[in-house]
Amino acid sequence: MIATSKPEMSKPETPKPETPKPELSPEGRARRLSTAVLISGGGSNMQALVRASMSEDYPARIDLIICNRPNAAGIARAQTLGVACIVIDHKAFDTREAFERELDAALRDANIELIACAGFMRVLTGSFVSRWNGRIVNIHPSLLPKYKGLHTHRRALEAGETEHGASVHWVTQALDAGGVIAQTRVSISDGETHLTLAAKVLAQEHGLYVRGLALAAESLLNV
Ligand code: GRF
Repeated sequence: MIATSKPEMSKPETPKPETPKPELSPEGRARRLSTAVLISGGGSNMQALVRASMSEDYPARIDLIICNRPNAAGIARAQTLGVACIVIDHKAFDTREAFERELDAALRDANIELIACAGFMRVLTGSFVSRWNGRIVNIHPSLLPKYKGLHTHRRALEAGETEHGASVHWVTQALDAGGVIAQTRVSISDGETHLTLAAKVLAQEHGLYVRGLALAAESLLNV
């Protein structure tokens, strides 16, 4: 059975040393923030965000999708949704920094103000994160601060947890360690496998990310 909690929302945390208060561009004072979604895979979270952002009341407008894997299923999904989608294959670059220069240029060319990582399987360097300081959010499939990193479902099962979930959080230089914006919880049933648990959590992620991105965008608009 799925037990979904109300999102436990918190304001984007009072900036910690590694999350200084973002400076708003003139565009950032507009009601909706121009947002890019970064993906690597299926793009179901991206799809949920794009659909939510089709409502003019939603404080983020999804203007660009960037995918780092040329064969990702999310690319066709983005095209069906009618949102501009760019593929920047990280394997075409010699270094992480060279890939990120291209990524940064694409985001700046499109006047993006907020970045939402949604199943984006590249660790961003500290220098990229500091260039976009306070303007990157991510969804992570665990109840942070538990289970940072990979294989979260397996690790939660192995630890004998009775509940698990997902978190939307600010991206800082330390992996999966930025302030939590919203979380959702699911109960772990008898006989649960990492696959059933992953599917259960993913089903809750979509609504969670829609709420979490809205909270993030509103907090930036209200600065
Ligand atoms: C989600 O579970 C997300 O939390 C994790 O990767 C998965 C991406 O799924 N980081 P999708 O590409 O949004 O369908």
